[in-house]
Amino acid sequence: MDIKNMLRIWMLSLVCFCGAAACSSKEEENSKKKDNEEPEVQSLRDAPFPAGVAIAPNSLRNIAAYRELVIREASTITAENAMKPGNISKGRGEYFWDDVDYLIDFAQTNNMRLHGHCLVWYRQSVNSMPAWIQNFSGTKEEWKAIMREYILAVVGHCKGKVASWDVVNEAIADDGSFRGSTDVWCTNIGAPEYIDWAFRCAHEADPDALLFYNDYGHEYSAVKRTATNNLIRGMQERGVPVHGVGLQMHTNTNRSLQDLRTAIRTAAETGLKVHVSELDVSVNQAGAADVTFTEELQNAQFNSYMMVSSEMARLPQEQQHGITTWGVRDLETYGYPDWPLLFDKDFNRKKAYDGLYRGFSE
Ligand code: XIL
Repeated sequence: MDIKNMLRIWMLSLVCFCGAAACSSKEEENSKKKDNEEPEVQSLRDAPFPAGVAIAPNSLRNIAAYRELVIREASTITAENAMKPGNISKGRGEYFWDDVDYLIDFAQTNNMRLHGHCLVWYRQSVNSMPAWIQNFSGTKEEWKAIMREYILAVVGHCKGKVASWDVVNEAIADDGSFRGSTDVWCTNIGAPEYIDWAFRCAHEADPDALLFYNDYGHEYSAVKRTATNNLIRGMQERGVPVHGVGLQMHTNTNRSLQDLRTAIRTAAETGLKVHVSELDVSVNQAGAADVTFTEELQNAQFNSYMMVSSEMARLPQEQQHGITTWGVRDLETYGYPDWPLLFDKDFNRKKAYDGLYRGFSE
């Protein structure tokens, strides 16, 4: 071999060696990068609109796995009970803010929207209706004054921190009429006057808050759908500040997918924002004692959740207020077996979760 050839071979080997070294250092760099990069975490936060859960402050405080899950998944939260009138106010002028402030702080720290539920609810239970209101006696003007007093105090306290409120909950009875004598507000102020008044007071307290009328039954009752939309139309005609419709949607796997779709589409016809506000999908609607959560039921539940999220995803963006499931995990405490939520009792994602997630992009 002459000297020229020897030189060429030597140069070639050098190039190969340097190339290989460069390659391997690039690979090393890539793998280092991978180690340092956060693994991609799937989350309901990937949804094209806010999605989240109803929560209990004490579970957030005391159950680490619960808290972590909510932080990982939720971009909107609603207090399941803690912000209902009966829990906030045990006596006229008395307010309990600990849980409310805890939730405000939790939502702000973790970059979530806090939805307020609820300001006015006819239902006579410890949570929903304080005894001092239930037993109040006074003129119509005095009833309007106590409603205003309560709403100004609560919405005022949360001003700028609670983005949206269910101002009035469940004002319409199953036959489409207002509730009459079973509703102290209706009895003492009259409907829809008390509903208008509640919205006007909430708007006065926080003009930036989005105000919702929240109710149940839209997925199975045309009467409820029509009555809700008529109420909203009337409020709009009267210049009442109403910004959205909350569909509770406590539903079950026997409900047809078309019914779920109709509920959302009809609410959207108001032109207002739509919030699927209390979603859960029971697989044991009949309350049988011996139900197994079969693959068939899991698939049915997947489909229900997917229908809800895909319908929401199809609405114009400005109407997509979001989806909130009514609780975090399937609880052991039901009177009969059921698995209505997105996470099992050990906080694992269920097929229902995959269904809701899939619907975001369907
Ligand atoms: C329910 C809560 O989930 C229960 O823990 C509580 O005992 C009663 O209220 N419609 C509503 C919600 O608007 O506030 C209700 O929440 C479920 C029906």
